[in-house]
Amino acid sequence: MTERQILVTAALPYVNGHIHIGHLVEYIQADVWVRFQRLRGHQVAYICADDTHGTATMIRARQEGRSEQQIMAEMSTAHQADFAAFGIEFTHYGSTDSASNQVLVAEIWKALRAAKDGSGTAIVAERDVTQLYDAKVGSFLADRFVKGTCPKCATPDQYGDSCEKCGSTYSPGDLKNAVSTLSGTTPEVRSARHYFVRLEPFRDFLKAWTRSGALQTEIANWLHGAFLAEELRDWDVSRPAPYFGFEIPDAPGNYFYVWVDAPVGYLASLTDAVATGTLPGPVARWWPKRHDPAFSDGAVEIHHFIGKDITYFHTLFWPAMLQTAGWKLPTKVHVHGFLTVDGEKMSKSKGTFVRARTYLEQIGEPAYLRYYFASKLNGKVEDIDLNLAEFTAKVNSDLVGKVVNLASRTARFVPALTAAYPDDGGLFAAGAAAADDIAAAYEACDYGDAARRIMALADKANAYVEAHAPWALKKDPAKAVELAAACTISLNLFRQLAVYLAPILPDLARQAGELLGAPITAWRDAATPVVGRPIATFSHLLARLESAKVQAMITASQAEAPVPAATAPVATTAAPVASAAAEPFAGEPLAPTIAFEDFQKIDLRAALVVNAEEVPKAKKILKLTVSLGGSEQRTIFAGIKTAYPDPTVLIGRVIVVVANLAPRQMSFGLSEGMAVAAGPGDKDIFLLAPDSGAKAGQRVH
Ligand code: 2FM
Ligand code: ZN
Repeated sequence: MTERQILVTAALPYVNGHIHIGHLVEYIQADVWVRFQRLRGHQVAYICADDTHGTATMIRARQEGRSEQQIMAEMSTAHQADFAAFGIEFTHYGSTDSASNQVLVAEIWKALRAAKDGSGTAIVAERDVTQLYDAKVGSFLADRFVKGTCPKCATPDQYGDSCEKCGSTYSPGDLKNAVSTLSGTTPEVRSARHYFVRLEPFRDFLKAWTRSGALQTEIANWLHGAFLAEELRDWDVSRPAPYFGFEIPDAPGNYFYVWVDAPVGYLASLTDAVATGTLPGPVARWWPKRHDPAFSDGAVEIHHFIGKDITYFHTLFWPAMLQTAGWKLPTKVHVHGFLTVDGEKMSKSKGTFVRARTYLEQIGEPAYLRYYFASKLNGKVEDIDLNLAEFTAKVNSDLVGKVVNLASRTARFVPALTAAYPDDGGLFAAGAAAADDIAAAYEACDYGDAARRIMALADKANAYVEAHAPWALKKDPAKAVELAAACTISLNLFRQLAVYLAPILPDLARQAGELLGAPITAWRDAATPVVGRPIATFSHLLARLESAKVQAMITASQAEAPVPAATAPVATTAAPVASAAAEPFAGEPLAPTIAFEDFQKIDLRAALVVNAEEVPKAKKILKLTVSLGGSEQRTIFAGIKTAYPDPTVLIGRVIVVVANLAPRQMSFGLSEGMAVAAGPGDKDIFLLAPDSGAKAGQRVH
């Protein structure tokens, strides 16, 4: 087999969010592929980075009163810790906010600026764009920072680019009653110069490339049907200041749109891997320029793993950029579907939006999820479902019941493997003969097929163990030879399965190697049985997964979710929460309009409840001590006891208070503010709570 030189990338996660199980589908999928290729003896670099730029990072930094650099450092550490805990081992983990990325983006931009279409017209065009502008924040508004009423179907609360109700797309300026979600103010319409990459001149090239075998057929068909049959729209690649990103070298005051420098981040992270000596260089060895004579096309492979939502960027824009700048085009873009949980979209309120960290805290063992996801992946673009009951059943029946079982039922009975491999009726040979089919399944990312084939071998191995019952042989000293044979066979079949599962379960493969004194380092290790070696002391492999842990993970995820104030099930009494919301205006008509300046006078703050207690003799009042950050504390007497009879449930919650209300002397003491709540009163009082992440003292705008 000729050695392949393979560069693998997984999509660069946004710096603004934590890794969740939806992300893990992809990073595990790519990690399995990387480990498989390495086991086959190929040279593989697995590259990733944080995707850092954009308005969201800038706004978050402002809101948290920190620098973008602090946020990036903190999130990079968190992301890398999560990946490492799931056995996802990148060769290098970089950042799109790197010096190398800035250089590469500038190089590619220069090539785009110089490029002309067949009739001599520049590929880069400039024109003015009208966009919504938030004067309070001092920023143009990306589509998702604008909400308003759909111009087509009049559904309120829709984002600036498309309506979730009727599906129509529009520009933010068309929204009715548009509001900036950053400040709550009505945005202005402002015009600014933007730079565009004209994609239409690339259409013939893209038509050919998308059919070149680089894409799954369904993806190529979709691109041809949805985009390539008609004129391609220009791509807006710039954003005016303020924007967190790279300033465009020949257009000061303008910045590259995040989706320009994000994929270049693959190249930059690779460059840094070589520069730091993590990876043997030169860079061209992994990602050559197209006509580099030292690295003829075909000798090097570039594989991107991405989710279906970012197909457009990776299969149209990105190849056009690479083509213009002369870089080798991706060999393959592997597109996967989304993750659903129990057949539904992941939901924060249902606790199915599970962060990697929460999984680790509640379940701990990453092998379960690696195996389950692998068993569901088939190399197609279909969504995959994490069925929680099936998850538990499958890892217990396959991993514990069929694989680990082979070792745990035999490893303690004899001190060593037999000197020669005993007659097993052709079982090991049949397992070795399956190597090519299993390898083909891995190569095609059809890990589900690989897992099925491996489990079919495991079934045969278990039938052998059942038939020979080493635990019964152990009781009869006259059967010592048979016992040694049965254990040697069983342990070798276990090790063979561990080789095949090694891309998915690297820890199990390591343990199997240690047990038999023969480390698993190559795919061909499945071809030859191990004999004559002492058997190491058996240490625990994989435990059964208890469904209670899965439930605990869901409960913990639910607890992390932001509680919508109007429906917050906060009281220990089971108050019906929907009744007050049914007709919000019936009992309480809207108050007269106020000027924005009037609203600004009210200083609403996120506040941490550090203590909540009853007030002697007061039927309706609770005494709250809230922190506004640092040593700033307030005492608030709140008339909420009817809804919160057990005040301790409030301790530790972040609520919203009016922090600049004049102190009011009450009979029980001085009240220094007011807790904000919805609802008519009595049991229907619902304290407001900011989304998780809000810090005490942050102003509510
Ligand atoms: O969709 C996302 O999460 C993006 N941050 C992926 C970027 S992939 C690459 F192009 F950088
Ligand atoms: Zn609509």
